[in-house]
Amino acid sequence: MGKNFSITTVSLLLLLTSTNAGQVFDIKSYGAQTNGDITQALTQAWKAACAVAGSKVVISTGTYKLGLVTLLGPCKGAIEFNLQGTLQAPSDIESFKGKDGWVVFERIDSLTVSGGGVFDGHGQMAWQKNNCAKKYNCDILPINIRFNFITNSIVQDITSKDSKFFHINLLECKNLQFQHVTITAPRDSPNTDGIHIGRSSQINITNANIGTGDDCISIGDGTQDITIKQVTCGPGHGISIGSLGRYENEQPVSGIRVIGATLSNTENGVRIKTWPASPSGTASDIHFENVIMDNVGNPVLIDQNYCPNNQCSNESPSNVKINNVSFKNITGTSTTLEAVKLVCSKSVPCQQVVVADIDLAYKGSGSATSTCVNVRPAVSGKQNPSACTKKI
Ligand SMILES: *[C@@H]1O[C@H](CO)[C@@H](O)[C@H](O)[C@H]1NC(C)=O
Ligand SMILES: *[C@@H]1O[C@H](CO)[C@@H](O)[C@H](O)[C@H]1NC(C)=O
Ligand SMILES: *[C@@H]1O[C@H](CO)[C@@H](O)[C@H](O)[C@H]1NC(C)=O
Repeated sequence: MGKNFSITTVSLLLLLTSTNAGQVFDIKSYGAQTNGDITQALTQAWKAACAVAGSKVVISTGTYKLGLVTLLGPCKGAIEFNLQGTLQAPSDIESFKGKDGWVVFERIDSLTVSGGGVFDGHGQMAWQKNNCAKKYNCDILPINIRFNFITNSIVQDITSKDSKFFHINLLECKNLQFQHVTITAPRDSPNTDGIHIGRSSQINITNANIGTGDDCISIGDGTQDITIKQVTCGPGHGISIGSLGRYENEQPVSGIRVIGATLSNTENGVRIKTWPASPSGTASDIHFENVIMDNVGNPVLIDQNYCPNNQCSNESPSNVKINNVSFKNITGTSTTLEAVKLVCSKSVPCQQVVVADIDLAYKGSGSATSTCVNVRPAVSGKQNPSACTKKI
């Protein structure tokens, strides 16, 4: 009886192990070598893996060169992209032939990206060619990792480094979790946003560590139900909803929760930014809670006159309506005198704004201030600076 039982257990375990591990597609079996170009090997391994349910593409430790690739679904079943090594993008933008992504995951359900490896975008040369500060409709440079139409998936334990433009971009994704993702680029690298979420829903980001030259996380139009927890951000421009109202036909943003973030040495803290003279739109149900600011400019900011490099006419107000927003338990230090700045639109004033338990000290001499324009926030708990010391 005991013996039979253990044999049954062992065979059951073996069966479970073999189905769980799935079929492994190691790019080395497709001719990949360390320090070599693996574009073809990876493309072939992906194709083969995608045709099998429960498969895993493995890129083992080592450094590899990779040209632009689109890892396309739909696949037969769940698929894992296991990157243990470091992938290096071409440095020159010419080899991208105008394409705006380096590694593109597209139309995949049940994808896991994992392995502890690095996507190194080699952005240094491209940053010098970035013309977005000068030109309103600038050239979009390649984004390190694009997730287009990805559903029910997980991205964990990977690093994105020195992207030429945004590091990670989501378009039309649903139910996607990011865990333990690291993103790094120099403080002065242009438009190297960490994670940009556009037209997506049910996205969770937990335990991310992001330091770049632009927003750590930015949220574009058509995005709902996003939870960002325990994110460390800096250097960079902070965590941002928007910019919104730049284009026609933008869809609403709603249901955004940022809980338990630490921002260090960023240009802004948590903000909502919309362009003046915009088409109409909405941003609602947006909540920032338990955020620590360490040496941060504009820690709490609603900016409905967002107009970087004077690229717009701000003669008429923004028409993006901001509604049901809270800033709760935000503490630490500000590098700007205006620690709290709520500048809403004259044509559509902000409504249902809650400001609770704020303790922000100005790093220079003088006391921090709080500005309220076209908004009357509901205030509770500690208020340092006092709420709406400047009203316009
Ligand atoms: C995402 O976060 C929300 C809020 O914390 C939670 O209810 C939900 O279960 C999370 N989803 C996943 C897939 O982890
Ligand atoms: C405001 O946000 C809260 C918290 O997410 C939500 O429960 C509530 O339904 C929202 N209220 C309105 C009027 O949108
Ligand atoms: C306020 O936020 C800090 C930092 O996240 C956290 O440690 C603390 O528990 C929060 N306080 C309350 C009352 O939630």
